[in-house]
Amino acid sequence: MATCCRAFVGILLVSLVVMNSVHADPEALQDFCVADTKSTIFMNGGPCLNPMEASPEHFITSALRKPGNLSANPLGFSVIVTTPANMPGLNTLGLSMGRIDMAPGSAIPPHIHPRGSETIFVVRGALNVGFVDASSRLFSHKLVAGDVFVLPKGTVHYLQNTGKITAFIVSAFNSQNPGTVIVSMATFASTPAIPYEVLSKAFAISVQELSQIRKSLGGN
Ligand SMILES: *[C@@H]1O[C@H](CO)[C@@H](O)[C@H](O)[C@H]1NC(C)=O
Repeated sequence: MATCCRAFVGILLVSLVVMNSVHADPEALQDFCVADTKSTIFMNGGPCLNPMEASPEHFITSALRKPGNLSANPLGFSVIVTTPANMPGLNTLGLSMGRIDMAPGSAIPPHIHPRGSETIFVVRGALNVGFVDASSRLFSHKLVAGDVFVLPKGTVHYLQNTGKITAFIVSAFNSQNPGTVIVSMATFASTPAIPYEVLSKAFAISVQELSQIRKSLGGN
């Protein structure tokens, strides 16, 4: 390819990436669209309540006031997020927040948010965080209280509490419903299972080892 065209393709790719990262969710067509949480219509986001029925209560949630029960999760962490279900007023606005609490030594396994980038703000504690880009390069860093780290949309990322106290982290997404794919679960514990012949080739392990992993992850 001639140099001119290569440069052009480069610019085109960069602008596509930039455009893609600016708008994770589509732009709203109205000031707000309080989600009608009782509706059974399936669409992109929730259907709008009649604006005359909207009230201030639709725009607040106390769901993030308290940490979740860390001992209820064998992995020792809790994540609570705002959604159109617990905060109908954020429907169509293209953002959401989360509260993450992590016991000392705990880790949030590698996962992907397919529909949004995430920023995390460490309120308390110390973390090791990292994401892997499309060329399998790891970008990781140690964080302390007050630090902010950004996890680009669609990248595999993890969090690890490296401190001696329970860590408290606030996260923000540029999507009302960023989605979460836990890589190990999606790969080894899907329903039904990905053919063992495929996984055996992909991970260069035996079918016995595969079924052991699937069992440990709660797959049936
Ligand atoms: C937290 O979870 C543990 C384990 O499931 C349970 O025994 C305990 O009662 C829970 N605590 C609260 C406050 O719900």
